[in-house]
Amino acid sequence: MKIAILGLGAVGRGVAEMVAAKDLGISVTGIADSTSGIINPAGIDIPAILAKKQKQGFCGDKHISAGEVLRKAEYDTLVEVTPTNAVTGEPGLGYIRQAIRQKKHVVTSNKGPIALAYKDLRRLAAKNGVALRHEATVGGAIPIFHMLEHGLAGNEILAIFGVLNGTCNYILTRMSDEGLTYEQALLEAREMGYAEADPTYDVQGIDAAIKLVILANTIWGNGVRLEDVDRTGIDLLTPDALRLADEEDCTIRLIAEAIPKKGLLRVAPRIIEKNHPLVVEGTLNAITIETDMAKEITLIGKGAGSIETASAIIGDLLFIRDCYVKRA
Ligand code: HSE
Repeated sequence: MKIAILGLGAVGRGVAEMVAAKDLGISVTGIADSTSGIINPAGIDIPAILAKKQKQGFCGDKHISAGEVLRKAEYDTLVEVTPTNAVTGEPGLGYIRQAIRQKKHVVTSNKGPIALAYKDLRRLAAKNGVALRHEATVGGAIPIFHMLEHGLAGNEILAIFGVLNGTCNYILTRMSDEGLTYEQALLEAREMGYAEADPTYDVQGIDAAIKLVILANTIWGNGVRLEDVDRTGIDLLTPDALRLADEEDCTIRLIAEAIPKKGLLRVAPRIIEKNHPLVVEGTLNAITIETDMAKEITLIGKGAGSIETASAIIGDLLFIRDCYVKRA
């Protein structure tokens, strides 16, 4: 299987590292970051490229753009991992559309395009006979879409509740367990590479709301948008609020909820008992799915991080290889 990677931030680096470290039968023939690109049909020397990126801040040739990698590299699947833009979806949305029109499969961790244009992109992918997979957009390493698609096939999904933002969960955990200030905890989350390029997406609940929209549209196809989510972030939460919750043996978590039959679509800090299944620590995410047959299922796993997110992307790549590429 041959892949091209657009975006070489924390997620792109994680994918490249894991593809190089594991014998998965995946060869990387094109890579671009925001200012440079590299194309090699024989397979790119990943350790050399990552070392160059770390030393010089860019990975390839300044004359080769992401668009050129898209058009000229030899690959069957695009890994699109550029930063999220929830307003326009760009540049990722354009890259995804172009790759699909070129009849390439697409795997993305980019929440903007999937939240904004899921239905259109699915239609375009079907028309061109290619796969579009986005496991890494929600829940980091948690294989939520694989579970919904396969393990829970035939179930009616009634509701979703979840901790969907690793950065907020990390901040809340560090504030309540270690007494850090909000600013200190946010700084740590940024340094560890958990936060979005623009961390207001995390702390204002935008990232969790985008993920809720993606879940809702994937499960129910109800065409909800970011503006439909009733949203409150953690940016105005005080240490006193956490202390008061603690006195009641409770804590505060940023909870995303979707119950279509009640018209509920909300992200907000909630006071919950410490032994509740959604009270997870650090960058963990937790997602509870309520269904008619299986009843309640909760998945817990790392919601952010370079290698953790790469796990979801590689799962999608190998799914595509087994279902499409090998049979082509
Ligand atoms: N900034 C996101 C988070 C990254 O903290 O959850 C994973 O989507």
